[in-house]
Amino acid sequence: MAKKTVTDVAVQGKRVLVRVDYNVPLNEKGEVSDDKRIVASMPTVKYLIENGARIILCSHLGRPKGERKIEFSMKPVADRLAALLPDVKITFASDCIGEEAKEKAAALQDGEILLLENLRFHKGEEKNDPAFAKELASLAEIYVSDAFGTVHRAHASTAGVAAYLPAVSGFLIGKELDIMGEALENPQRPFVAILGGAKVADKIGVIKNLLKKCDTLIVGGGMAYTFFKAMGYEIGDSLLDAESIDLAKELMAEAKERGVKLLLPIDTVVAETFAADAPHKTVKSSEIPANWQGLDIGEETRALFAEAIRKAKTVIWNGPMGVFEFPAFAKGTAAVAEACAECEGTTIIGGGDSASAVKKLGYAAKMTHISTGGGASLEFLEGKVLPGVAALNNK
Ligand code: 3PG
Repeated sequence: MAKKTVTDVAVQGKRVLVRVDYNVPLNEKGEVSDDKRIVASMPTVKYLIENGARIILCSHLGRPKGERKIEFSMKPVADRLAALLPDVKITFASDCIGEEAKEKAAALQDGEILLLENLRFHKGEEKNDPAFAKELASLAEIYVSDAFGTVHRAHASTAGVAAYLPAVSGFLIGKELDIMGEALENPQRPFVAILGGAKVADKIGVIKNLLKKCDTLIVGGGMAYTFFKAMGYEIGDSLLDAESIDLAKELMAEAKERGVKLLLPIDTVVAETFAADAPHKTVKSSEIPANWQGLDIGEETRALFAEAIRKAKTVIWNGPMGVFEFPAFAKGTAAVAEACAECEGTTIIGGGDSASAVKKLGYAAKMTHISTGGGASLEFLEGKVLPGVAALNNK
């Protein structure tokens, strides 16, 4: 059922608690090194400013596990926000609940922002403790959820708080769900899904769900070696998810049954060791030598995958094709990113590693959509209910 959005409630003069995902990387100087998630929240934040709301932003940063660890402070985020919104008064509360937060929330004027300290400094956040959720809710009169990257977590600030306030979604959540939802439910065809990453087990749900919907499934990255093993190939020292060999067989059978074209690497770049400067060569995927390990897809595979991607009308990509952190083994991931950039259809990049790769390679602007959520986009693509969306008020 469709959920209420920020445009369905009157926000003028109201204190609005906005759950954003400002779980952003910091550099060695403690500054925000990638502000994509902060920028992605701007449509909602600016809408609220323009409509006279009194904005209380809250987020987690890292995994401080319920303890006050200053290296996970949201303070650097306040500095970044101030740079993005130079004309807006932004204050910071050194705790997300308690007297200081209450006083600063009460003192807000229309169009001003209060950023709260890391929610995960309290154990109640991840436990979805009702008392903590109620305390947080007491700061505001309306709750807006715009933390797409955390929407798969049933935490106090993403789900619990919705029990105490009118609860609506922001524009980022709306955009993420619309674009990915449309691709899943009503894809322009051919629809090509590309999955990489290390463990088959982590991607079973998403493979199963996408097999029901796509025309071609491309499997690369560390996961491919488990499929090779299932096909009876020797894989040397390549990554093996031994518990998932039978599962890989089942998935291959299912693809066949459903008439989905399953593309696996036909050649593989193997290395002597797992190192950036390891001696390496390209071999047929069925001929990986003993004591060598696959770290990337080979040249023929790059061409094969790129051809399928370029012709697609819808592409969803999650997970790198190789160890792209090492330049010698980044060619597969780069080729897929380039083909996505050249594809004229809708191209959707799941968050996490594939999103970082696309950005690092300079193709970000060429994609239709790069999700701000790694785990969240994966769970959405699996077809799971997202607790942070389920908790919101229906239209
Ligand atoms: C993310 O970075 O994927 C989100 O912010 C969620 O963070 P978490 O995995 O620590 O819950």
